[in-house]
Amino acid sequence: MNKPNSLILALPKGRVYEDFIPLLEKTQFAIKDDVKKSRKMLLDTKHPSVKVLIIRGWDVPTYITSGAAHIGIVGKDILMEKEEEEFVELADLGLGKCRLSLAGYEDVLTGSARLKIATKYPKSSTKFMNSIGIQPEIIYLNGAQEIAPVLGLSDAIIDLVDTGKTLTANGLKEIKIIADISTRLIANKASMKTKSTIINEIMEAVSYTHLRAHETPEHRGCRGRLV
Ligand code: PRP
Repeated sequence: MNKPNSLILALPKGRVYEDFIPLLEKTQFAIKDDVKKSRKMLLDTKHPSVKVLIIRGWDVPTYITSGAAHIGIVGKDILMEKEEEEFVELADLGLGKCRLSLAGYEDVLTGSARLKIATKYPKSSTKFMNSIGIQPEIIYLNGAQEIAPVLGLSDAIIDLVDTGKTLTANGLKEIKIIADISTRLIANKASMKTKSTIINEIMEAVSYTHLRAHETPEHRGCRGRLV
């Protein structure tokens, strides 16, 4: 796969991936394998020089930075945690729209100089809390952050919010929006020079305008959830 015109496109497992596959099907980069049945991680597409790599979203920047994969699809929430890694952000695909927010029982920002924050976004959380003059104690959790304040593990959380239903169901309120989040197309820096022709073809195929033209009528929110 190291020929100048060959390319590996990294896609994250999960709901954005499930949204993205039908869109690829309408292009020359449609996956040939049965993605629902196959356990393969590197899949052939109709394009003889392009393969699709299926990995975890958190691993997409690592593959792209190293050049093991050349372009990839990943959430801005993950990119903000991986700022030190070397990749180029090519496009906002307009999928998986949601926001990264601070949430808690009440406005924890009044009064406290130190707060316990449960999150899987330690870098973005520390940066934001420091920017408002609060020293955070980060409690790293892989998921279900919303229960942490309920059980006294933290004072507040910093997590993705879309409909707000998960916050409400757990008695929490959105206190402050930190960043708007959506799915981005990223590329390896060197590949931008050595594989520019094929990257441009893929960008053309998956460009925002093109995606919109083929979008399903339902609004798909955070990580592709139907709302
Ligand atoms: C995300 C996020 C929130 C929820 C917000 O979790 O972490 O828990 O969605 O959505 P809402 O505002 O519409 O309720 P997700 O279900 O993607 O799973 P995760 O815990 O693995 O991140």
